[in-house]
Amino acid sequence: MRRTSLFIVKVCLALTFTVSSVYMYLWLVEPHHQTLSQLAANFVSRISTDNGQVSEVVNYSVIDVQPEHLSGDPNYNVMDVEPEQLSGDANYNVMDVESETDSEIRHVVFIKVHKAASSTLQNIMFRFSLARNLSVLLPKNPLDHINDSGRAINPDRIISHPKEGYFDILCDHIIFDEEVLAQYFPETAVRVAIVRDPMQQALSALVYFSQYFKKPELLAGIEKYKDSPLEGFLGHPRDFFKLSQPVVSSYINNRMSVDLGFDLTNFEASKKNKTKIRKFLSNLERQFDLILISEYFDESMVLLRRTLSWSMKDIIYLEVNTAQKNLQQFQKSIWNHKPMLNSTTMLTFRKWAAIDYELYHHFLVIFLNKIEAEESFMDEVSAFREARDEVAKFCYEVSDSGAKSSEKISLPETAWTKAFTVSGSDCHLMAMQETDMMALVGERQKQRFKLMRSE
Ligand SMILES: *[C@@H]1O[C@H](CO)[C@@H](O)[C@H](O)[C@H]1NC(C)=O
Ligand SMILES: *[C@@H]1O[C@H](CO)[C@@H](O)[C@H](O)[C@H]1NC(C)=O
Ligand SMILES: *[C@@H]1O[C@H](CO)[C@@H](O)[C@H](O)[C@H]1NC(C)=O
Ligand SMILES: *[C@@H]1O[C@H](CO)[C@@H](O)[C@H](O)[C@H]1NC(C)=O
Ligand SMILES: *[C@@H]1O[C@H](CO)[C@@H](O)[C@H](O)[C@H]1NC(C)=O
Repeated sequence: MRRTSLFIVKVCLALTFTVSSVYMYLWLVEPHHQTLSQLAANFVSRISTDNGQVSEVVNYSVIDVQPEHLSGDPNYNVMDVEPEQLSGDANYNVMDVESETDSEIRHVVFIKVHKAASSTLQNIMFRFSLARNLSVLLPKNPLDHINDSGRAINPDRIISHPKEGYFDILCDHIIFDEEVLAQYFPETAVRVAIVRDPMQQALSALVYFSQYFKKPELLAGIEKYKDSPLEGFLGHPRDFFKLSQPVVSSYINNRMSVDLGFDLTNFEASKKNKTKIRKFLSNLERQFDLILISEYFDESMVLLRRTLSWSMKDIIYLEVNTAQKNLQQFQKSIWNHKPMLNSTTMLTFRKWAAIDYELYHHFLVIFLNKIEAEESFMDEVSAFREARDEVAKFCYEVSDSGAKSSEKISLPETAWTKAFTVSGSDCHLMAMQETDMMALVGERQKQRFKLMRSE
C-alpha cells in the first residue's frame, strides 16, 4: 500500500515537472552591451506549479553560468587570486582539507552536460582536485574544451598524460564514450552526470548560444520569430536548426542525450525509435553510477557526497546572485514574458526533444528512488544548506571588506561531517569563473608533471 502510494507520488512529481514547464516565467535581460557575467546575474527563471506556487528548488538562471565572482567585477580573473596560489609551488595545498575518510573516492569521470547547472558541479570537482593534488584531464588552452563536438581525445591538445597510470578527474566537455575514456581513467572511477528539465535546458542553450556565441542558425530562427522567440522556438524548433548541420554542432537538439553519447545515425528517426532510446538508457544505467538532477541541486550534492565519501566542505558552492537588477530593462525585452504554450506548441517541442524527455524522466525516477532509500537524507540536506548559507555570508563579507584571504570561519562537526574551516582563498576558488579555474588547474597540472619528471 505504502509502496503504491509512493509510486503514485513519483509519477505525479515527474508529471509536475513536465506540466510545470508550461507555467514557466522568464525575465530575461536585453543582451546588448552586457558582459556575460552581468547577463548571467540578471537572468531569472522560475518554474511554478499550476496553482501558482513556486515548486521544488528551482531558482536556476536560464543561462546557468557557474557561481559568479563575489565582487560583481566582471574583470575578475585568475590574476586576482592571492599570489601564493600562482607562485609555482606545487606543494601548496590550496584548500588544506584532510580527507574525511579512507574510503574517499578520488577517481571521478564527470560528464559535463551543456546548460544543466554542470558548471557549478565542475567548480566543485576542480576544487576537490586542487585540495588533493589530483590529475585532471584538461585541454592545453583553457578557453578550449577537451572535445566539444566529438568523442576522441587528441593527445596533442591536452595537458600531458602521465605515461603510466591514469588521470584522476574528468570534468570538462567531451562526448561520452566508454571505450575512449577507459584509456584515461580506471574502471573504478565513479561515473557522474547531471541532467535538467529538457525545456529549461533547451531555452537556456537557445539564449546562451545565440546571445553569447551568435550561432547563425539560432539567430536566423530568432529573426524569423522576432516578436516572440520563445514561442517561436518551442513551436518551431526546426527553424532553429539546419538539417545540413551535424547534430553535435547544435545545443538545442536533444543535447543532453548527445553529450551522454547517444548514437547519432538517423537522428531524426531515432526520436521515434523507442527500442533505440530504451537501449541507450539501459546502457547509461550500467555505465553511470550517478545521474543527478538540476532541479534538485542540493539533494544532488548530498547524494554525490555520500556516494563519493567526500566531506561536506567539498560540496559547498556559492549561488549565482540572481538579484533582479535592470528589471525595467528586461521588462521591455522580447524575452520577457511567460511563454504562451498551448498543446500544439508543447507537443511539437516534446516530439523535438523526445530523447531528452525520456532521459530526464527515466533518471528523475531513479534519483528519487535513491534518495528515498537513504537514511536521514533530508536532515543532511538541511544541515548542508545551513552550512552553505553560513559560508556564503562569510564569503560576501570577505569580498566586501577586502579582508585577507587568510581569514577563516570554522563550521562545527555534525552527524555528517567533521568540523571544517573555510578561508578567503576558498571563497575565491568557489567564485572563480570557469575559464580562470581551467587556467589555474591547468597550471597546476603542468607543474605536477614537471615535478614528476624530475623525481
Ligand atoms: C526563489 O526566488 C524567490 C524570489 O527571488 C524567493 O522568494 C524564493 O525563496 C527562492 N526559492 C528558493 C528555493 O531559493
Ligand atoms: C603532488 O603530486 C606530484 C606528482 O605526483 C608530487 O610530485 C608532489 O609531491 C605532490 N604534492 C603534494 C603536496 O602532495
Ligand atoms: C573530437 O572527436 C572527433 C571524433 O568523434 C574527432 O574527429 C575530432 O578530431 C575531435 N576533436 C578534437 C578537438 O580532438
Ligand atoms: C531502431 O533502432 C535500432 C537500433 O537500436 C535499429 O536496429 C532499428 O532498425 C530501428 N528501428 C527503426 C524503425 O528505425
Ligand atoms: C499555439 O500557439 C502558437 C504560438 O503562440 C500560435 O501560433 C498557434 O496559433 C496556437 N495554436 C492554437 C491551436 O491555439
